[in-house]
Parts: sequence; structure tokens; C-alpha cells
Amino acid sequence: MHDAGSPMFLDGDVAELLVSREQIQARLVELGKQIASDYERLNPILVCALKGGVTFLADLIRCLDFHLEIDFMAISSYGGKQTESTGVVRILMDLNASIEGRHVLIVEDIVDTGRTLDYVLHNLETRRPASLKVCALLDKPTRRIVPVPLAYVGFEIADKFVIGYGLDFNEQYRNLPYVGVLKPEKYL
Ligand code: PRP
Repeated sequence: MHDAGSPMFLDGDVAELLVSREQIQARLVELGKQIASDYERLNPILVCALKGGVTFLADLIRCLDFHLEIDFMAISSYGGKQTESTGVVRILMDLNASIEGRHVLIVEDIVDTGRTLDYVLHNLETRRPASLKVCALLDKPTRRIVPVPLAYVGFEIADKFVIGYGLDFNEQYRNLPYVGVLKPEKYL
């Protein structure tokens, strides 16, 4: 089953469409309204967790009509994670700017075990931001090991290995414009 947009070569590797590009766009507009009402006078810094969060951030900020800044942080679970988080987190690239006294909104593609976000939240908290919250496109609540506060969530999804809209398998499929489930034969 594929997205309603033009067929793509990569569609052939997708077993199931989970969140279509139309559903994502509609949810972005809703999230944009919520975030605007909370942040429009605060000149926040939206911190994108690379690499997965980049597509979400790029689309989300175009739904936000107020002053804001963006910054990037690359975080990864240690060891070539494929479909499972290892629990050991490292910062591959840190923020450019100081966040001291600033309102920070972390923009994540997916929260699974919560380990990555827990690490990032504790790390950024030590830098004394004025506030620190999280906006996640996808939430897999049944997978949570470490509880993490999510201020904004795009979609709650079932425990399936998802690709697309920034999410990868072995660094591939981030460019799919929707969220789908990879065919099992592609990763077995
Ligand atoms: C993914 C995702 C989150 C994390 C969620 O990152 O972007 O940061 O896993 O998993 P967790 O809740 O179990 O910690 P990944 O390490 O795959 O890096 P990427 O964003 O570069 O794909």
C-alpha cells in the first residue's frame, strides 16, 4: 500500500503505509498552532536531533510564523544500530549556540525506548535553558524503557520498524515523503 502522491521507486520496498504525507502535513499545521500559542513571543531555539529529525524540522518551521532560531545536534546510539536501540548514547555533533536563558524545543523524529531523549534532556538541562521541551513526530509508547516528557506529539504508532520522513534503515529511506514499514525481506 502506497502514498497518494506520485509513485516512487522506493515504494516497492514498503510493506505498509503508516502515516501519509497528507496526514503529516495536516498534523504539522495543528502542531504549528499549538507551538505558536506557547512560543510566539519567546524567540525559541528549535534544536533538531540529526539526522532523523531534519525532515520534520524543515517542514515544521514553515508552519511557524514568529521569530525563532534553529540549531542542530547529532546524537546516536552507540554501535551500528539497525532496528534496536543499544542504550549507549553519544553526541556526534554539539549545538553551535549557547542555550543558557533560552527557551529550547527539541525536535525529534521518533521516541522509542526514550534513552536518547533522556540523555539529551539531562545534557541540555545542565546548560541552564529558560525552558526545555520536546516535540516528537512519532511516539512508540509501548516501547518506552525510560519515561520522557513529550510536550507535542505528531502521531502515536504501534511497535513496528518504521522508515521514511527522515527515519532510516541502514541510512537508507530517509527521503521517502511518508512514514512506512519496511518489507521484512529488506532487512532480514
Ligand atoms: C533514532 C531517533 C531517536 C532515537 C530514538 O536515532 O532519531 O533519536 O533513535 O530511539 P530511543 O528512544 O530508543 O533512544 P538514531 O540513533 O537512529 O539516529 P538518526 O537520527 O541519525 O537516524
